[in-house]
Amino acid sequence: MNTSLNYNICFDNDLSQLISYCNEQSSEIIVGTDSNTYKYCYPKLNPSFQAQIKHIIEIPAGDQNKNVEQVYHVYSELSKVNSRRNTLLLILGGGMCGDLFGYAASTYKRGIPFVHVPTSLLAMVDSSVGSKNGVNFQSYKNLIGTFTDPKAVFIHSPFLQTLPLRETISAFAECYKHAILDSPQHLELIRLKTKNGYDRAIATIAMAMWSDIDTNLNAHNIICKCASRGSNFNYIKDEQTLRKYIGPLS
Ligand SMILES: NC(=O)c1ccc[n+]([C@@H]2O[C@H](COP(=O)([O-])OP(=O)(O)OC[C@H]3O[C@@H](n4cnc5c(N)ncnc54)[C@H](O)[C@@H]3O)[C@@H](O)[C@H]2O)c1
Repeated sequence: MNTSLNYNICFDNDLSQLISYCNEQSSEIIVGTDSNTYKYCYPKLNPSFQAQIKHIIEIPAGDQNKNVEQVYHVYSELSKVNSRRNTLLLILGGGMCGDLFGYAASTYKRGIPFVHVPTSLLAMVDSSVGSKNGVNFQSYKNLIGTFTDPKAVFIHSPFLQTLPLRETISAFAECYKHAILDSPQHLELIRLKTKNGYDRAIATIAMAMWSDIDTNLNAHNIICKCASRGSNFNYIKDEQTLRKYIGPLS
């Protein structure tokens, strides 16, 4: 799919586009994963493609590991296998992997090419697009980073089969947020496509928005109210409408 970005986002049902792309671009492929995506997603790559992969770099899962220590680890692994400037880093993971490996790739040898293969819903709808890479530093989120384009993004939805429900719901909330900001039509489209996650996603958004303005809210109340009104959802475009939608809190 062509976009106004400087790189392509491909919806790749069988990962064949990823394989062709990697073969065209580089004779040396290294995969970056975290402990979960190595376990659940790496095995979904075609065995003959796996045989072409020179090295796998695995980092521990979890945002607490999105730090400079893990970047050092990635640099050491890249240099241990003599990665060159045309080595292609295939980043197989959620937003945490995307940010961290993207940052390592964009700085190692002043930048080596990388592709995103997002495995979480959030990474598919948000973090793999936009070229922001980085890591947390001390208590600051994303304090260190770069703006560097991936060479391409390959979206393969079957990866989502193993994504924990909690992660799916929280990404739905992100989808709804974009839809709310965009248009009622966009919101309705997403609502139809995500029937089961709808109530909980709305509740998540509502909680996030409400908690910004009133920290004394009873989250349970909000969830109950949102869930019971799922089918009558009105277009929410601002906090006032949201307040009206949820109604007075008891
Ligand atoms: N660069 C950007 O523009 C941008 C935008 C939004 C968020 N982010 C960053 O993205 C990160 C959040 O992304 P996330 O929600 O994907 O978190 P994540 O990458 O930590 O993934 C969440 C959990 O799901 C696991 N996982 C991922 N895919 C899986 C799969 N298919 N099967 C089983 N387990 C799987 C991961 O190992 C992890 O435990 C944060 O670090 C955030 O700062 C970046």
